[in-house]
This record gives sequence, C-alpha cells and structure tokens, in this order.
Amino acid sequence: MRTHFCGLVDEALIGQTVTLCGWVDVARNMGQLVFVDLRDHEGIVQVVAEPADAAGNADVVAAAAQLGYEDAIRVTGTVRRRQNVNPKLRTGQVEVVATKIELLNKAEPLPFHAHENPGEDIRLKYRYLDLRTPEMQRKMRTRIRLVQALRRWLDARGFQDIETPILTKATPEGARDFLVPARLHPGEFYALPQSPQLFKQILMVAGFDRYYQIARCFRDEALRADRQLEFTQLDMEFAWVSERDVQDTVEEMIRVVFREVIGVELDDPFPRMTYAEAMRRYGSDKPDLRIAMEFADIAELVKGCDFKVFTDVANAADGRVIALKVPGGAMLSRKQIDDYAAYAGKFGAKGLAWMKVEDAAKGRDGINSPIAKFLDDATLAGILNATGAQSGDAILFGAAGDKVASDFMGALRLKLGKDLGLVEDGWKPLWITDFPMFEWDGEEQRYVALHHPFTAPAVDSIDDLRANAATAVSRGYDMVLNGNEIGGGSIRIHRPQMQSAVFELLGIGAEEAEGKFGFLLDALKYGAPPHGGIAFGIDRIAALMAGTESIRDVIAFPKTTTAQCLMTGAPSPVPDNQLAEVHVSIRAKDDQGAHERPVVAKQG
Ligand code: AMO
Ligand code: AMP
Repeated sequence: MRTHFCGLVDEALIGQTVTLCGWVDVARNMGQLVFVDLRDHEGIVQVVAEPADAAGNADVVAAAAQLGYEDAIRVTGTVRRRQNVNPKLRTGQVEVVATKIELLNKAEPLPFHAHENPGEDIRLKYRYLDLRTPEMQRKMRTRIRLVQALRRWLDARGFQDIETPILTKATPEGARDFLVPARLHPGEFYALPQSPQLFKQILMVAGFDRYYQIARCFRDEALRADRQLEFTQLDMEFAWVSERDVQDTVEEMIRVVFREVIGVELDDPFPRMTYAEAMRRYGSDKPDLRIAMEFADIAELVKGCDFKVFTDVANAADGRVIALKVPGGAMLSRKQIDDYAAYAGKFGAKGLAWMKVEDAAKGRDGINSPIAKFLDDATLAGILNATGAQSGDAILFGAAGDKVASDFMGALRLKLGKDLGLVEDGWKPLWITDFPMFEWDGEEQRYVALHHPFTAPAVDSIDDLRANAATAVSRGYDMVLNGNEIGGGSIRIHRPQMQSAVFELLGIGAEEAEGKFGFLLDALKYGAPPHGGIAFGIDRIAALMAGTESIRDVIAFPKTTTAQCLMTGAPSPVPDNQLAEVHVSIRAKDDQGAHERPVVAKQG
C-alpha cells in the first residue's frame, strides 16, 4: 500500500515519488493551495496539494480541500525541498507534492481533540484515538523498549522464560482474588494469580535454576495512580542463591535497561537502607531520596516539657515525636499550615504543631510558635539543634504512636517536598532490606506477613522465630526508585518444617495449610534448593521512564480507578443461562453484606 513511512521521508528522497499512508493531523486550506500534515506511527510529513499545473492536478486540490481531522488517506507524490524549513519536524526539510490523494476512510467529527487537553474519561472511552497521539505513542513505546531491553538482558544470561497458569489456585500477595467459576466442577473456582510466586518456587525445585516471565498479575484491590487490577511483573527466581546474589544481578539489569532505554546512569552500587532506618529517617519504606528533608526524633527532648500532647506520647511505650524541618517554611501562611494539618489528618494525625524560625540569632524571641511557651530554653535550643533549622525555616511536629506518626509525617514530607519545589532532579534508587517478618493486625488479632508467607526469616531456627516473632526480621527486600516501590522479593523458605511453622504463626492451621498450600509443602520435601527471587513492576518502571505520574499512561487499555474499562464497558452483566452454566446465581443487593478479607498476607 505504501512505499515509505510519513515520519521518515527525508532529503535523500528529494525528487523521488513516494506513496504514504496516514491520518490527517491538520489540513490548512489556503484556497489555491492545501497543506496537509500527514501522520503515521513514525511521525509527520507535510503534503502539499497545489493548483492545476501542467500535470493537471486539479483533483488533488479538490480532494485535499475535503479532508478533515483523522481521515485515513493515501497520498502519492514527489518529495521536494521545503521552502519554509520546519525545525520542529524530523521531516521538516522536505515536503511531498501530491499527485494523488485517496480517501481510505472518512473520520467522523472527533469526540475530542488532543490539543484541547481532554479529560481522562473521554480519552479512555476512545482509547484508540488517544493512543494515536504522538505523546501516547511515545509513552507506550518507552514501555515496549523497556520490555525488549529486559528480555535481551535476561536471554543473554540464561534465564528461562516459562509460562505459569492463569487459571489457578489462590496465591496470597495481600489482595483479594479474582475468581473464575469452574463449569466442570460445580461450586468450585479457579483464582487468577496475584503473582506466579508458588509456581516459580516450584520451578526451582524442578531444576530450572533461573526463571523469568513477563507475567500478568491480578489483584482485586483499591486502584490508584500506581495500582491496577491487572498489571505486569517481570517475575524472576534463582536457585542456589543468597540475597546478595539476587540483588547484585538484578541491580545490574536495572542499570543496563535505564542506560539503554532512556540513557540514564543509575548509581553503582545502589545505596542500601534497612526498613527500620527508612522508617526512622523518612517515615516510609519507599523513601523518595530526591527530597533531602529528614525526620528528627525529639521524644527524649520533650519528655519533661509542659506540652501535654508531646509528653503523653513521649512517655508512652510505642510513642514517637517527630520534628521535620521545612526549609524556607517560615513563609508558610497560617492557612497553608492548617491545610497541611488537614492533609496529615487523612493519614491519622490528630494535630500538627509548628514553629517558625524567624530569626535564629534571637533565641526564643526569634521564634513564632503556639507551643513555644510550653518549652524551656534548653528544649527550644535542642529542637533547633536536632533539626538543624535556621532563620527562615519552619519545623512541623507530629506526635503519635510509632506507626501513625511515621505515616503522616512521611506523607507530609512528600507533599511539602513537591509543593515547595524541594524535589531534586535525577534518579535515586535504593534497596530496602531487613523488613519485619510479621506485622500485628489488630483487627484480625493475628500476625500477617509483611511480604508474603513464603519469605524466609533471617533466623534459621524455628524455635528462635517462635520466641521472637514480634521482632523477627525477614530476608525480604524491595527496590525503590524516586519514592516508588519498583520491585520486591526475598529469599524463600526452602524447608517444609520452617514453612509450616510460619503458616502456624500466621494463624493458618495445619489443615488449612495442607488444603491451600499442600502442593508447595510437598514440593519442599524433595530436596528443594535454597532459592530466592524478585518481581519488578513493569508498569511502574515504564511510567517512571516515560516521565508520567500514572501507570495508566503506559498500559494500552487500563481500568479506571472505579475498576472499569470505559472502552469495552467491562465489567458487564451476564445472561442468566451463561450464569447457570457455571453454576452461579446472583444474590440480591442487600444480601451481599460486608465482605471478609480472606487473606494471609498484607502489603502489595
Ligand atoms: P509484590 O507484591 O511486591 O511481590 O509485587 C512486585 C512488584 O509489582 C508491582 N506491583 C504493582 N504494579 C501495579 N499495580 C499493582 N496493583 C501492583 N502490585 C504490585 C510493584 C511491586 O514492587 N511474588 C512477589 C515477588 C517475589 O517475592 O518475588 C510479589 O508479587 O512494583
Ligand atoms: P491543642 O492543644 O490541641 O490546641 O494543640 C496545640 C497545637 O498542637 C496545635 O497546633 C495542634 O495542631 C498541635 N497538635 C495537637 N495534637 C498533635 C499531635 N498529635 N502531634 C502534633 N501536633 C499536635
């Protein structure tokens, strides 16, 4: 149909006849003359329809004059040097003088035009038009190049690409399962995998040594900018390894793909930080190190002061009083501080005490704060010293239980960093290690796994683990980049006795363990090698590489935050006969009640 791509027509073709296919990006009708910007997946080239000349091309001008946005056309013409060079276009040195214009498919008036900055809903409904835009093409191609680079690297290093089932049994990763009714087994269900976790471990038992898969995962959880119901992992597993073997290998891989795909050199090696340190300094297990702000713990300093909010917390067993210096924060208005307090409230803060350092040299007189009167001179000086606050800075205070204080101050740190332009340019990767093995779930009154229940504890002895479950550290690790968890993994439990003990600590009885994970416990009995691995969020890495906030921009057909596909209309009702076939009947609305959370692992 065509001889060349629009976006690749260049000076080497001057004088030649080409046939191009594409969409009408814009048509400018100058009366005698019509200019058409013709676009295909490679880019845009200018086509000119000129008035009848010796060649007798009157039809061409008439045809061009009829063209509208996004008409699909075919153009034959001669390439010539352009008079007004357009430096913004790759093809800007040339134009194609049309000798023939064929309308292949007339486009109806568009539901939106890309230049008008349409809302995301309409873009998702007409996703094919949205994806046609150069900006979306660029984002999607970044993802494509990422996956290509990953595969090249993995294949060159002997990783085996193996597919695992989509119709399977629940693999807990902390979300709800998607269930598929089994027609041939009335009342029974397959679950879509939350990850290939158990299969990849069993592949290590099966002797494949190094596995990878670009795997679709399904998790029925609340959607956000960085979460979808179905998303893609680069899933990897290694036999006969310790954590450094896995980490060093994949760190190299990530460096290579960043270099190849977007020309960025990441740190070598990545910095490492324990979970405890990350929570202490940044209130997050995925700290964004592009923001220099750090917490100062001041519970010891304020234990004996006259501000009850602080002393109550500082003297409680689990309390944390955090001071956060906000560079330049003395300029914040009362209203802005109130807004930050309200924001922190969403993460559990009961209040947000503040202090503006107007003139550090003046001591108490240079400080503007409603709580200064409760603090003696030594405490005030101690706080300035601990935070390093200077004239012009502010200090925000969060007092609460360890987890809550860390959470809301961590969230504030990020928001302040963004609002006040304190996010440095560049790329800040790091490893987070030494996660707690378990987290106590007060609601369910039992431990839940911080990673997943197959993560090995740092201790080898089952007795030690049982005796110190509350403080046990796991062999899990996350890779974090610019405040995003881009990958998570661990060394796994490879002995059945330890796996059973961990199930038990998680409140999964022997019978339940046998029913849900008997196949894994069996597989571990037959000489399972020590093994470990990791999974990377491809969507998240692609979004970072493409410089976009939302992973929806690097997924061709994503779901909305209300878990719908606006283009197809999924999910949708199903006819009764189809339901009957799979032995399903729909309960009345008011019968559906509250849903339990049948999960054994938390986090995502
Ligand atoms: P985890 O649950 O940490 O680990 O997932 C690995 C990585 O997948 C990405 N990710 C998501 N991306 C988009 N939408 C989601 N809903 C979503 N959930 C997770 C994140 C995350 O770091 N089986 C383990 C891996 C292992 O232990 O080897 C697992 O799935 O980038
Ligand atoms: P109050 O005594 O409740 O009026 O609070 C005095 C100041 O302390 C206000 O600025 C509150 O926002 C702040 N405050 C109250 N509770 C907390 C808390 N848990 N952590 C930090 N600041 C708080």
